[in-house]
This record gives sequence, structure tokens and C-alpha cells, in this order.
Amino acid sequence: MTLSSKDSRVVLRPVEEADLDVLLEILREPEVARHWSQPDDEFDRTELLSGDDADGAERVTTFVITSGGETIGWIAGWEKLHPDYRHAGIDLFITARHQGRGIGREAIRLVCRFLFDVRGHHRITIDPAADNDRAIRAYERVGFKRVGVMRRYERGSDGIFHDGLLLDLLPEDLAE
Ligand SMILES: CC(C)(COP(=O)(O)OP(=O)(O)OC[C@H]1O[C@@H](n2cnc3c(N)ncnc32)[C@H](O)[C@@H]1OP(=O)(O)O)[C@@H](O)C(=O)NCCC(=O)NCCS
Repeated sequence: MTLSSKDSRVVLRPVEEADLDVLLEILREPEVARHWSQPDDEFDRTELLSGDDADGAERVTTFVITSGGETIGWIAGWEKLHPDYRHAGIDLFITARHQGRGIGREAIRLVCRFLFDVRGHHRITIDPAADNDRAIRAYERVGFKRVGVMRRYERGSDGIFHDGLLLDLLPEDLAE
């Protein structure tokens, strides 16, 4: 499925094998890599593609973020499918050249709409590093609310466990 902003400035399309080299190149940019896990080409290539896990408990849908036909980033919507804890989450990165231009915000809004309207979720979470101010600002602009700090939540690219900030979004929070 292709998702597009009203003015078509941001278009999301499914990730294909042929996209992986460019996406991996963006992921290795210092400005992106420092906000991601430790680099592992094989693991990262698998993560960049869509897929379901073996026991059917989780589904991941991944998109290439494009603007003006150029590949400029990646965004994923993952879904926990257990009926009692059904919810979705998002991960993304954008090449340093295009950061800070509102593209992240637009891509997040498109994937949230997709997860609410097409996949029928009622709650979406996101969990940036607690010091990733740019990401947190972009998520709050979309409507995400702070839930709280998760201490020593995630191992960063420096190999150290850092605090994470959990935010969540309900359909009524989503800014248009
Ligand atoms: C996080 C990311 C996806 C956001 O996308 P983006 O297109 O850069 O974000 P936007 O331009 O939509 O919004 C960024 C907001 O942060 C603000 N901002 C930029 N630098 C900032 C900083 N150092 N501190 C606080 N806010 C900052 C911008 O002004 C903007 O807010 P505004 O629209 O109110 O002015 C992108 O920057 C990125 O890929 N970063 C590297 C990888 C990463 O951190 N991924 C997220 C992991 S959870």
C-alpha cells in the first residue's frame, strides 16, 4: 500500500529488496546511526523489510519515505496482535540532509492514520531515547503524550544502556 500526504510532498511505499543498500547507507550516517542500535548489516537488512514473526504474535509493515521521488528514509509500523494487549508502534529514520523540515512529522502522521484506520488499532506507542529531543519534539507535534521514563531501557550505539521515553497516542490525539 502507498500512503501520501495531501500535497504529495511525502509519499510512503513498501520496502523492496532493491531499496536495502540505499536505506542501509542512510542508517550508517553518523547523525542517524547515533540514535540507532549497534550496526549489524545482516540484522538491519532483515529489520528494514516487512514481516510477521513465527508464532503470529507480531506483524511489521515497513515503508520507504520518499520526497520528490527520492528515497530519504524509512518508517515501520509494528503491531502486537494478542487480543488483550493489541496495540501498534512506530520506528523511523530520515537522512540528515532532510531532517528538521517536517518530513518526519508527516510520515509519522501517515503511518498512524494507517494503523488506526486500516489496521484498526486503538493505541500507538513510540519509545525514543530520553535525550533524543528532536524525535520527541516531532512525536509531540503529531499528538503523542509522554507516559514516562523507562530507566536503562535500551542499549545504544555506544554499547551502554540509556533511559528511554515512552509516549503514546490515541486516535483522538492525532493532530491533522
Ligand atoms: C527523529 C526524526 C525521524 C524526526 O524527523 P524530522 O523530519 O527531522 O522531524 P520534523 O522536522 O518533523 O520535526 C523535528 C522538530 O524538532 C525540532 N528540533 C530540531 N532539532 C532539535 C533539538 N536539538 N532539540 C529540540 N527540538 C529540535 C524542530 O524544530 C522540529 O520542531 P518544529 O516543527 O516544532 O519546529 C529525524 O530527525 C531522524 O531521523 N533522526 C535520526 C534518527 C532518529 O532519531 N530516529 C528516531 C529514533 S526513536
